[in-house]
Amino acid sequence: MSTQTVSASTAADVARVTTQTLLEMRDEETPVAMLTAYDYTSARILDEAGVDVLLVGDSASNVMAGHETTLPITLDQMIYHAQCVVRGVRRALVVVDLPFGAYQGSSREALRSAIRVMKETGAHAVKLEGGEDVVASVERIIDAGIPVMGHLGLTPQSIYKFGTYKVRAREDEEAEAIRRDVVRLEEAGVFGVVLEKIPAALAAELTASVSVPTIGIGAGAGCSGQVLVTHDLLGLTKDFNPRFVRHYADLATTITESVGRYVSDVRAGAFPSSEESY
Ligand code: KIV
Repeated sequence: MSTQTVSASTAADVARVTTQTLLEMRDEETPVAMLTAYDYTSARILDEAGVDVLLVGDSASNVMAGHETTLPITLDQMIYHAQCVVRGVRRALVVVDLPFGAYQGSSREALRSAIRVMKETGAHAVKLEGGEDVVASVERIIDAGIPVMGHLGLTPQSIYKFGTYKVRAREDEEAEAIRRDVVRLEEAGVFGVVLEKIPAALAAELTASVSVPTIGIGAGAGCSGQVLVTHDLLGLTKDFNPRFVRHYADLATTITESVGRYVSDVRAGAFPSSEESY
């Protein structure tokens, strides 16, 4: 595997994670750890913690901007978030979501959006949602030399078509469509595919059926790697508790308590002390 331990490394000796690294990890059955990032400070911490892939997800629309869905975020806003993330990263592969409205019009529009992301952010790849319907765009972007990650199953940009965030592909017809889509994306040349909220058995079957890594979110342990929205993992999104999220921290409580103590200290005249003053 062409990665190194990051902790004691300097900028010069850190081996970057590339799309090739992910393929090698898949072949060696080393699970890929992917998380979302939207800003410099968090990206730096996540990168130093050893996350392999940082996704500048359009979930920024939810967790950064407070929108109900991912639909409102714009390409310009995604580019801003990606620029911030790239500045904080030394090792991880940075993948940027093409947002709703930036690629559905035509493969020409998709390519133009992907080129903007690559030129203006310094990120390493783009991700877009869909199967057969986006294959022409995927091929055109890859032909231009830009690595593409696919995204199947629950695709949040189509939420108004689905009408619900429930598990996808429980029925044979939809499962069969995803089986076809994952192969079409692989043939088109994607370097990986996110599988969101589909039955674990189907995700494991899809993972075995293609030669590129699958990254699951709510898709069980049989994928080549896992992704979560960092805000969910850290317990910042208190009202969002689907069963696929594991909370590794309760930062909302930590922040509330810390800020509460700060407010009390300020009110009591206990901050700043003479040691904290000039
Ligand atoms: O935008 C996002 O956070 C994503 C992940 C859920 C895979 O696409």
